[in-house]
Amino acid sequence: MADQPITTFERAQETAQFLAQRLEDPLRHPKVAIVCGSGLGGLADAVHASPRVEIDYASIPHFGRTTVEGHAGKLLFGILGEKTPVVLMVGRMHFYEGHSIDQVTFPVRVFKLLGVDIIILTNAAGGLNPEYEVGDMMILNDHIFLAGLSGMHPLRGPNDERFGLRFPPLSDAYDLDLRRSAHVAWNRITTGARRLHEGVYAFAAGPSFETRAECRFLRNLGGDVVGMSTVPEIIVARHCGIRVLAFSLVTNKCVLTPVPRGDDRLLQTSTTDELDTIIQEGRANHEEVLEAGKQAAKDMQNLVIETIKDVFEQRK
Ligand code: HPA
Repeated sequence: MADQPITTFERAQETAQFLAQRLEDPLRHPKVAIVCGSGLGGLADAVHASPRVEIDYASIPHFGRTTVEGHAGKLLFGILGEKTPVVLMVGRMHFYEGHSIDQVTFPVRVFKLLGVDIIILTNAAGGLNPEYEVGDMMILNDHIFLAGLSGMHPLRGPNDERFGLRFPPLSDAYDLDLRRSAHVAWNRITTGARRLHEGVYAFAAGPSFETRAECRFLRNLGGDVVGMSTVPEIIVARHCGIRVLAFSLVTNKCVLTPVPRGDDRLLQTSTTDELDTIIQEGRANHEEVLEAGKQAAKDMQNLVIETIKDVFEQRK
């Protein structure tokens, strides 16, 4: 008899078993999963040297691979803070790389089966809120998922009750207790070099950065930042009952001003070089995203560690 196609749940079980076989306690039961965004993989350095197990995505059954510069592509099991067992995703799968939305969110389901209670996601994002500066950070407290509203949703299709409900609520997706802990942690460690905001993340599928009109559109809808990740993972995490905390690092300011017009009288005498300079002002690029990530990585790293301490170690 031909093999029955296996379900996502069964694939996640196979992957979880594969990982568990390579781990011993306390790493076999991570409490927190941490997804490191673009240029934010430095958190790996803060994980204790021992015990520590690293497994490349390429060797993990049913895992996709990441192809983006600045995203290494491995799971790192270790201890963070004093004693908290964690699993880090160093590099994530993005929808824009061509992965299906199932592949993008698959690791979250595996984390659930490994017993993870809390997921912390970090990402690089463009600032839509004019008050946000490059290098500022934002705790997500809500999201706008146009792709999901229009049908590209990670929970579309038959529901597997072993993960969660058919119609999961998302009005409480961003855990208030964890957000409160993150602010407490930030107040303890901030040097004043950057601000920590709370706000709304607008998802864009990418890979192009947004046009000016799209940026104004997302801002008018209520978005404070825009980015190409995180929301599908959050939805799948909430579906299976994992608590969520997510941070954006503002790596560039989105251009909200309308494009200069070709019939602007003031531009009639400008040279083509001058026109190039005018149209290119504020243009986003991946290098600046990585550079801002590098500079702020340490603060983001400390914020995650201190929040974990607040949640798991000091309050007990
Ligand atoms: N748009 C979308 N994703 C991003 C941006 C942006 O401006 N910056 C970093 N990630």
